[in-house]
Amino acid sequence: MYTALDEKRLYEQAKHLLKQDAGTAGDTIAQLREVINYADWKYYVQNDPTLSDSEYDGVYKQLKNLEEKHPELVTEDSPTQRVAKGLSERFPTVSHLVPMLSLDNTYNADDLTDWDRRCRELAETDDIEYCVEPKYDGAGISLIYDDGALSRGATRGDGVMGEDVTTNIRQIRAIPLSAALLKYGIKQIEIRGEIVIHKKVFDAFNKQRVAEGLSPLANPRNAASGTLRILDPTEVRKRGLNSILYHVSNYTLTEGAERPKELGTHYDTLKLLYSLGFPTPAPDMKVFKHVDDVIKYCHEFEGRRDDLPFEVDGLVIKVNDFAMQDKMGSTSHHPRWAVAYKFKARQATSKLVDVEFQVGRTGAITPVAKIEPVHIGGVTVTSVSLFNEDVIREKDLHIGDTVLVERAGDVIPYIVKPLAELRDGNEREIKFPTHCPACESQLERQPEEAAWRCININCPVQLVEHIIHYVSKDAMDIRGLGAANVQKFYDLDILKDIPGIYDIDWSKLKGMEGFGEKSITNLQQAIEQSKKQPLNRLIFGLGIRFVGETTAKTLANAASDIREFYTWDAGRFATLEDVGPKVATSVVDFFARQENRDVIQKLDEAGVNLLNEHKGQSAADGELAGKTFLFTGTLSHFKRSDAEKMVEDKGGSILGGVSAKLNYLVVGEDAGSKLDKAKKLGTVNILTEQEFLKLVDGA
Ligand code: IVH
Repeated sequence: MYTALDEKRLYEQAKHLLKQDAGTAGDTIAQLREVINYADWKYYVQNDPTLSDSEYDGVYKQLKNLEEKHPELVTEDSPTQRVAKGLSERFPTVSHLVPMLSLDNTYNADDLTDWDRRCRELAETDDIEYCVEPKYDGAGISLIYDDGALSRGATRGDGVMGEDVTTNIRQIRAIPLSAALLKYGIKQIEIRGEIVIHKKVFDAFNKQRVAEGLSPLANPRNAASGTLRILDPTEVRKRGLNSILYHVSNYTLTEGAERPKELGTHYDTLKLLYSLGFPTPAPDMKVFKHVDDVIKYCHEFEGRRDDLPFEVDGLVIKVNDFAMQDKMGSTSHHPRWAVAYKFKARQATSKLVDVEFQVGRTGAITPVAKIEPVHIGGVTVTSVSLFNEDVIREKDLHIGDTVLVERAGDVIPYIVKPLAELRDGNEREIKFPTHCPACESQLERQPEEAAWRCININCPVQLVEHIIHYVSKDAMDIRGLGAANVQKFYDLDILKDIPGIYDIDWSKLKGMEGFGEKSITNLQQAIEQSKKQPLNRLIFGLGIRFVGETTAKTLANAASDIREFYTWDAGRFATLEDVGPKVATSVVDFFARQENRDVIQKLDEAGVNLLNEHKGQSAADGELAGKTFLFTGTLSHFKRSDAEKMVEDKGGSILGGVSAKLNYLVVGEDAGSKLDKAKKLGTVNILTEQEFLKLVDGA
C-alpha cells in the first residue's frame, strides 16, 4: 500500500501539517486522515512507528478540531470516528456468512507427512504448493467489508453464530475502516483473522493493573478475547489491541467485474490485502512445494518463535491454490486443505515451595511463589508472581501444591492452576501477612482494591520512590536531585527520608565524583527554592495515593494550612470537586497517620511552605474565587502555563473544555472549535488577551 516514496511524502506531510494549517479545510482533512492512517499502519501493522506520540496527538487533534468546525466533512471512515461515544448495549448475536471452522492439529514430522499424503490423494495430484504462516494465539474474528467499508465485526462464538462487536473492532487501529477493495471489483468480502495483543503491551497493561490494585489478566489470549467483549469502547481503545487477518472465507464481485487474478491463491490474496492496508501475515508467509521443506521450516521457525511481537503457538500450513482447496473440501470441524503444526507447549509442572511477600514502589504487597526450578521454553523458572491475595484464593493455591506453570514467550510466567488431584494432605494454606514485611506497619486494603498496601511513608522500601516523586518536576521540582542521585544518596546514608532533603550533610559529598563545588551550590539553591513552592505541589509531592496534580490543587485550595486536614473526615473531603469516596478515604488515612504528621512537622521546621499562597487566607476567598477560565488559540502576550497560574493564584480555576460551567474563555490567535462552542452557549465571557490582563490586574 505504501511505497518508499509514499512513506517519505507522508512523513513530510505530517511534519508540514504540524507546522501550520495549509490549504482548504477539505484538503487538509484529507491529508490529515491519510497521515493518521499511515501512522496507524506503521505502528500496528509494521511495528515500526514513524511519528512520536506527541506528533500523532498533534495531527489527530488538528483533524478533530477541523472536523468540529466542518461537521459536513466528517465521514464514517475518518480515524476520529473509531472512537465511539457511550457504552455498547449487549452484543447482538449474528450468523457468520460461512461457518468458522477450526483446524486439525499436527505435532511432529510424521503427522505432517501423513497429512501431505492425504492431501495428494484428495487433490489427485503430487503437484501441491503449501503456504506456511504463523498460528496466532488470540481471539478469532470475522470482518465484513461492503463496498470497501468495514460493515461488521463478529466474534467466533460457536463457529456458526458469533457476537456483533463492530464498535469494539473499530477501536483496533490495525484494522482499516475502509480500503480500496472496489478498485479490484470486490463488492463484499468476509475476512477472518485473530485479535491479538502485543506481548509488551500485555505486560505493561498488567503492570498498570496491578499498580492500580486490580487483578492481572491471565495471558495475551484471554486479554484479547476479554477485551473484545468489554462494553466500554474507550477502554477497548486504550488496550492497544492488534490484529492479523489470515483467511478470506467469502466474497462477491461488483456486476460485470472480472475476478482479480490475485484471488486464485491464498498467498496472492493475502499479499493483495496487505497492499490494501490490511494486517495480513504477508511478511511472514512462505510457499513450499515439498512437505520435507515445510517440516524443515516448521522446526526452524519454532526456534525463533519468540521473535514475533505476538504470541504464536504454531504454524498453519494451507494448500495454496483455491480451486484445489475447493476440491478437497472440509469436514464439519476443519478444512481438509489446512492443518496446524503445534509448537511444544510452554507449560510444565513444579512444586510450590513457599510464598514470599514483596513491597512494591507504591506500597503494594506482591506475593511471589517460589517453585522448584523448572525448565520452560528455554529458561529456568524459580519464582512466579501471584500478583495479589485474590489470585491465590481464586486459584485455591496451597504451599506444597503441584502447580501447572506457563510461560508464554516474553510474557512473565504465571501459575495456571494447582493440580488438586495430586494433593496428599500435607499442603498448607498460604497466609497473607497483616503487617509490612519491610517496616512492620499494619497493611491496609481499600474495599475496591485487590492489593494490600503498606501506607507508612517511612517504609524503607518505598522511601526512595517517595523521595524521587517528591523532588520530581511536577512536584517540588528540585533540579539536580533526580532519581539516580536520590538512590545514590540513599545508599550512602546521606538521604533517608523526605525531610532529610533539607538536612543534607554536604561535607559527605565533598570529593565525590560529579559533585564539584558548582553543582553542590546549584543543588543547595534548588533545595532552598523548593521551600517556597505552593502548597499544591507539596501535597502532590507527598505521594498520597490517588492524589494527582489536579486533586492536589483542589485540596490546596480548600485549606489555608495543610494541617487543617488532620481534623477533616472523609465526608468533608468528598464535598470537594472531583474528590470521590475512594480519594477521600485515602486522604483521611494519610493524614491520620502519626508518621506522616511527623514528616509534615519536620518539613515545617525546615521552613517548607505548608500554607497556601495567600497565607492564612483561603484561595477560596481570592479575587477570582469561584471563577472558571479556559485558554484557547495561540497566546502572544504570555505563556499559557503562566496565565493559568495567575488565575489559580487568585483563587480561580482552569477547566478542561467549554461547558456551562465556564465563565471566561480567553482567546488567542486562530482560536477554533472552543470559541465556536462558547459563542453558541452564549453564557461564556469571551476575552482577548488584553482584556484578560486587565481583569487579572483589576482583581
Ligand atoms: S485458518 C478455515 N490461519 O487457530 C480456516 N487459523 O486452532 C480457518 N488461527 O480457528 C483458520 N492463526 O482462530 C488460520 N494463520 C492462521 C491462524 C489461525 C491462528 C486460529 C483460528 C482457528 C484456530 C484453530
